[in-house]
Amino acid sequence: MSNKKYKRVTTHSLLEMKNRGEKISMLTGYDFSMAKIIDSSGIDIILVGDSASNVMAGHETTLPITLDQMIYHASSVVRGVNRALVVVDLPFGSYQSDPNEALRSAIRIMKESGAHAIKMEGGSEIKESIIKILNAGIPVMGHLGLTPQSIYKFGTYTVRAKEEEEAKSLIEDAILLDKLGCFGIVLEKIPAAVSKKVTISVNTPVIGIGAGSSVDGQVLVTHDLVGLSTEFNPRFLRRYVDLNKVMTDAIKNYIKDVKSLDFPSKDEQY
Ligand code: KIV
Repeated sequence: MSNKKYKRVTTHSLLEMKNRGEKISMLTGYDFSMAKIIDSSGIDIILVGDSASNVMAGHETTLPITLDQMIYHASSVVRGVNRALVVVDLPFGSYQSDPNEALRSAIRIMKESGAHAIKMEGGSEIKESIIKILNAGIPVMGHLGLTPQSIYKFGTYTVRAKEEEEAKSLIEDAILLDKLGCFGIVLEKIPAAVSKKVTISVNTPVIGIGAGSSVDGQVLVTHDLVGLSTEFNPRFLRRYVDLNKVMTDAIKNYIKDVKSLDFPSKDEQY
């Protein structure tokens, strides 16, 4: 959907925001209706995250979601967006085996959903895939720190890069992603001091989730921010509204009105 009234956010405008010190706002989106609300509120980036596996499909991890399912979510989001840059996660299993497979997956996302960029978890180990995708003209966002697709390697969702060695290798990976030409890097759940070092060491915008305030922007899962997910309560999460309660109250009122014959009233029928 294109609407000339809006000046689109681009990878270039994100870099300009970093350079002039304007913080970048990013939220996840998975469907048309929510994407419309998020976009018209003025968000800069909508991430069609593989967290759809958790909050939309109810899986415990992000691993089960498929490329076809990500394309379905992404194309629904794209139809609801006029302004934001739409970034889509390459899901687990769609890019890890070799660079050709990674490129094919990225091309399918861009072609079939109309999204503007892809995101991939990892550093030096996926270097060749990143190069191949960038060479095809597809913008790539990196993702370092707590990378949920590797949860069974980590064994836990606790803060990453607390030890000096892991922090050093994370910073090296971030510098590599920057040099390769990634248009942004997500840092998830790492000490604020480490993300500060990354942010001043790279030219590309750094977006944090649980990574402190020195980064160039922030991202949250929308379902967490609006209180639709209730069991996820990490320290970094700020809930702006309790939609779970708002919706539960509304639905209870509807049930009461149906049972008591209050709904539909004379004015609500033909
Ligand atoms: O999938 C997702 O929602 C993400 C964010 C947490 C950054 O990758």
